Amino acid sequence: MSKVFFITGAGSGIGRVTARELLLKGYRVFLTDYNDAFLEDTCTVHLPSIIPEDRQGNFQWAQMNVCDQGQVTNAIERCVQAFGGIDILVNSLACPFSSFPLDAVSNYTLGIFS
Ligand SMILES: NC(=O)c1ccc[n+]([C@@H]2O[C@H](COP(=O)([O-])OP(=O)(O)OC[C@H]3O[C@@H](n4cnc5c(N)ncnc54)[C@H](O)[C@@H]3O)[C@@H](O)[C@H]2O)c1
Repeated sequence: MSKVFFITGAGSGIGRVTARELLLKGYRVFLTDYNDAFLEDTCTVHLPSIIPEDRQGNFQWAQMNVCDQGQVTNAIERCVQAFGGIDILVNSLACPFSSFPLDAVSNYTLGIFS
């Protein structure tokens, strides 16, 4: 089976393009983003219009704010359920540096993604 990529910030920009290119190469991808509208557009409009029909099952998604322990746990569980595990993490989220809530990123989340 192909490697499984878990991508944060996959609703736009580099994360979204990375997801698309990995899918076109035949990898399996779990997309996450805290912006549900971006994620929905990426996963229900953009990717289905580009990814060949026989690879449409190669991606799944879940809304996930990396600062929210419950959402992180849920997304990881859903990825493991769908694809049997995670091989590679692509951390591609972005927000204005001065407003990033570093204090809100729990040790739990940092542990998972370190
Ligand atoms: N675009 C560039 O030229 C460039 C160059 C060098 C480095 N980078 C870095 O690459 C990364 C991605 O850049 P981009 O241009 O694709 O940004 P982008 O703003 O297009 O995409 C970032 C995504 O992260 C999501 N996000 C923000 N905070 C989040 C959070 N707490 N939890 C989950 N998702 C969250 C946003 O909703 C957005 O969809 C950033 O770290 C950026 O600094 C970008």
